[in-house]
Amino acid sequence: MLFLQLPLLLVLLPGGDNEEGFQEPISFQIIWISSFYNRSWEEEVCSAWLGELQTHRVEGKSDIVIYQQPWSKGNFSREDLMESEHILRMFFIRFVQAFFNHASQWKLEYPFDVQIAGGCDLYHGETSVGFVRIAYQGSDFASFQKNSWLPSPKGGTRAQLVCKLFNLYQGTLEIIQKLLSDTCPRFVLGLLDAGKADLQRQVRPEAWLSSGPNPSPGHLMLVCHVSGFYPKPIWVMWMRGEQEQPGTQQGDILPNADGTWYLRVTLDVAAGEASGLSCRVKHSSLEGQDIILYWGQHSSMGWIFLAVIVPLVLLIGLAFWHRKHWKHCDPSSALHRLE
Ligand SMILES: *[C@@H]1O[C@H](CO)[C@@H](O)[C@H](O)[C@H]1NC(C)=O
Repeated sequence: MLFLQLPLLLVLLPGGDNEEGFQEPISFQIIWISSFYNRSWEEEVCSAWLGELQTHRVEGKSDIVIYQQPWSKGNFSREDLMESEHILRMFFIRFVQAFFNHASQWKLEYPFDVQIAGGCDLYHGETSVGFVRIAYQGSDFASFQKNSWLPSPKGGTRAQLVCKLFNLYQGTLEIIQKLLSDTCPRFVLGLLDAGKADLQRQVRPEAWLSSGPNPSPGHLMLVCHVSGFYPKPIWVMWMRGEQEQPGTQQGDILPNADGTWYLRVTLDVAAGEASGLSCRVKHSSLEGQDIILYWGQHSSMGWIFLAVIVPLVLLIGLAFWHRKHWKHCDPSSALHRLE
């Protein structure tokens, strides 16, 4: 929950954004997942992310880097890119080799997964903090601190052994340090500049209400859907007047296929208390003009139906009855009968 609120706080509080309108910190990371099946079989997936936006991926075994965004090369030249890719590739190859070679010494049991996340966090476009974290079977294993590998307590003796070995290669440690403290922030600043128009775009949300499955007898589930917004931070709340409803439940912010976001916010209320409630949406794209949707108004078609159709049916019924009734009293029909 705190995780959801944190980015929001950063946006709503003045000073949360840097002057260019990006959220702080700006994080760039390469995520590399390696699955070791047996003594000779290993598969890997590799991707790179700017915040929650994927910028690169590596296509299967082909080793070809796919640039996911038109600006994924940042301001790096072809040579710069080739060199960085080459260094990273060598690093990962050696890493995998180390795990294969020391599998029995480190008591690794096939199958197992190793994950690496490495990159840098940028603050105010100036300060950069580099990081590399390794996980083994999904839990913390080791991390790169300053200029060497540090085992995580959870990694036990195995992590200590692995770090001891990795720390023997002074040359590799220096390369990692340079990647983190120099290459990474330089690349990210280039990305932010090249992708500016895309990253700073503002897309207004659409919002609508519906009712969810009834939570319990006599209760209603009010659902407020907000979709198609960008950037991600948003504030959505069920309100009565200016009063925030504490029972408001916020779902996860989910990605739409076009890179915008979707959020569903619900409120469980007693059926009698639903009217007068509204869903309020605050988002940077709305420039202070909050979206407010009132519960009950979305079903106005229902009321129009009732207001128009019911009297109409009554009227037609009345007309028929009247005609029939009138026929009986029609003097001509009486005359007819006399004849
Ligand atoms: C290793 O695992 C792969 C994938 O599951 C399998 O195809 C291969 O036959 C295995 N090799 C050995 C030596 O067990």
